[in-house]
Amino acid sequence: MIFDSHAHYDDEAFDKDREKVLNGLNDKGVIGVLNCGASLEGARMSVELSSKYDFIYSAVGVHPEYANIVNEKTINELRDLASYPKVRAIGEIGLDYHNDENPDREIQMNAFRLQMGLAKELKLPVVIHDRDAHKDTLDILKEFPEVIGTVHCFSGSVEFARECLKLGYYIGFTGVITFKNAKKTSEVAKIVPMDRILVETDCPYMAPEPNRGKRNQSDYIKYIIEKISEVKGKSIEEIENSTIFNIKHLLKINR
Ligand code: NI
Repeated sequence: MIFDSHAHYDDEAFDKDREKVLNGLNDKGVIGVLNCGASLEGARMSVELSSKYDFIYSAVGVHPEYANIVNEKTINELRDLASYPKVRAIGEIGLDYHNDENPDREIQMNAFRLQMGLAKELKLPVVIHDRDAHKDTLDILKEFPEVIGTVHCFSGSVEFARECLKLGYYIGFTGVITFKNAKKTSEVAKIVPMDRILVETDCPYMAPEPNRGKRNQSDYIKYIIEKISEVKGKSIEEIENSTIFNIKHLLKINR
């Protein structure tokens, strides 16, 4: 059984067959999905999906790529969206210094802080996006010690993982861990305690081997679970049970 802790089924890559894909997931062992908004439009659609599908929950937030649009008005709209019962997190939010076209660092940090403040106010966990911005991400997480969440598609070092764990965060693993050149990610999986590990697609992106390059979907997480089970020397069942328990605990899902 699988709980996908980070998906984007609102993405246009699913426009042609979204219903078909989502309706087929339960039969493939997927019992839950956290759909994460990246833009305001995505956040709205995320909420819609979670009202329509019993097994979908949503996170609302603005991705660093769109940090330009984050102001008080945006925060008010996110606050309104977060009042829907199946909205269980603020995200995805964070910092992305990888792409030069992204907004200036100051703008990204401001948008990140505003949304961390909202999570603190609403007592919701956060879904963190961090790409090539480990130090600034960590500094801002430390400014909000009351907030916890998940560092999604973890791409940092073992040392950085330890810092995030110390702050109470969970670590999310995508298909990247199945890639041949992803030794660092396996090293991280080794040291993350069983009660802090999460699995995710980040679909439509990041499909695991043997589906690398294809459009991703939640049942492909079985390949990620297999890899983690190998790396940690635990059974598939143990990884499935822990990752499901962990995400339900984080999102306060009691069923
Ligand atoms: Ni994502």
